[in-house]
Amino acid sequence: MNWSCSCISFCWIYFAASRLRVVETADGKYAQKLFHDLFEDYSNALRPVEDTDKVLNVTLQITLSQIKDMDERNQVLTAYLWVRQIWHDAYLTWDRDQYDGLDSIRIPSDLVWRPDIVLYNKADDESSEPVNTNVVLRYDGLITWDAPAITKSSCVVDVTYFPFDSQQCNLTFGSWTYNGNQVDLFNALDSGDLSDFIEDVEWEVRGMPAVKNVISYGCCSEPYPDVTFTLLLKRRSAFYIVNLLVPCVLISFLAPLSFYLPAASGEKVSLGVTILLAMTVFQLMVAEIMPASENVPLIGKYYIATMALITASTALTIMVMNIHFCGAEARPVPRWARVVILKYMSRLLFVYDVGDSCLRPRRHREQDHLTEVYCPLPESRLKTVRNKDLSRGEDVSGLSKSERGCHSKADGGDCARYAALARNIAYIAKCLKDHRAAHSKGSEWKKVAKVIDRFFMWVFFIMVLVMTVLIIARAD
Ligand SMILES: *[C@@H]1O[C@H](CO)[C@@H](O)[C@H](O)[C@H]1NC(C)=O
Ligand SMILES: *[C@@H]1O[C@H](CO)[C@@H](O)[C@H](O)[C@H]1NC(C)=O
Repeated sequence: MNWSCSCISFCWIYFAASRLRVVETADGKYAQKLFHDLFEDYSNALRPVEDTDKVLNVTLQITLSQIKDMDERNQVLTAYLWVRQIWHDAYLTWDRDQYDGLDSIRIPSDLVWRPDIVLYNKADDESSEPVNTNVVLRYDGLITWDAPAITKSSCVVDVTYFPFDSQQCNLTFGSWTYNGNQVDLFNALDSGDLSDFIEDVEWEVRGMPAVKNVISYGCCSEPYPDVTFTLLLKRRSAFYIVNLLVPCVLISFLAPLSFYLPAASGEKVSLGVTILLAMTVFQLMVAEIMPASENVPLIGKYYIATMALITASTALTIMVMNIHFCGAEARPVPRWARVVILKYMSRLLFVYDVGDSCLRPRRHREQDHLTEVYCPLPESRLKTVRNKDLSRGEDVSGLSKSERGCHSKADGGDCARYAALARNIAYIAKCLKDHRAAHSKGSEWKKVAKVIDRFFMWVFFIMVLVMTVLIIARAD
């Protein structure tokens, strides 16, 4: 029982295997025969329809594989596509039963008629021939032709919002010679296939909708169909933020600080000019990659605005420097400026002049002290006037003591000497006072300059901040 069963199964397997081998060999032979029969009197030059009034339908499907390059400057998109075209050839049909169930063959595409579908908005200078890949020919005449293609298509690039821009690139396919009554074009799906897309580092693909357009020129002429795939791209802006925007923002925040720099350092103007030069370098970098269109990109506007700001700040710095170096010969600070700038603005802007806050009270005391030396005063008041400066205090007390002595003793020679000394001292005091007055005039101008500087520093700081916020608000 067991033996007979295995024998039967063995026999069956042997029989099946031999039969399979027979089919295989027959298949190859039948394919040869089929090929011979099909192409005996076939011409690939003519549109394969039985009735020339009938339209031949071509279905087009695009698979986007890769975006190779997007050249904004020359407005060319280079993409790697797979183009699938499906049509029906009325002369390449056969009866499967006559060829032992053979239902499809693969043959070189240049043997059959091919629709002359081309990319209308091609931007390639060399004429690229269609790739000679195989087509799949089915028994009912359906031909499927898959061909890879590297397309260079022109694409209107709008860089207004660069680097936060989105682009739309059209890929328009249509027949070059046949009109819509001879070859009609359809899109297989309502969008391009993105399932095999290799992610691009610079562009994010948001979709690839496809629409069929039929254009007829004039009233009674033939329609010209085309299928347009619109590639929706969104720029990944991180690269540009890191390389173009952040350095510029950082540099522009330095610009208001040129007002904070002390005028005595002599670096105020050179700081402004250095910042201006740095901005120019970035501006050039952006200008190099952008098309020379009238749409100035967002980042370009930011650069221009920043550069204008820095130019203005440098010009203002130069003017403020002039105020700062108003010397002793200058007019005194006008009354209104004294009130507006020195009184209110300095308080508003927290300009605490270091020299001012610690020097001014002492200066008043010294002035009093000098006048008091000139006209003798009672000892008691002199003591209150005496400041911490010990040596000066001793001089004053010594002088007054000797003057008192002069009155009591009435010593002529000594008295004359002291009077001469007192005159000399008075002269020195006067000189000193004039010097002080001149100096205080100069330092008042210096303080005016400082307050103006501080005012512009805040104004420019706020302007830079607002501009930065405005450009960052554009990023989404
Ligand atoms: C081509 O497509 C049109 C519209 O879908 C259809 O009416 C016509 O029959 C098709 N022609 C052939 C030959 O399949
Ligand atoms: C791209 O194609 C679509 C659909 O045909 C059309 O609406 C759009 O205007 C085209 N864009 C350009 C820039 O030609």
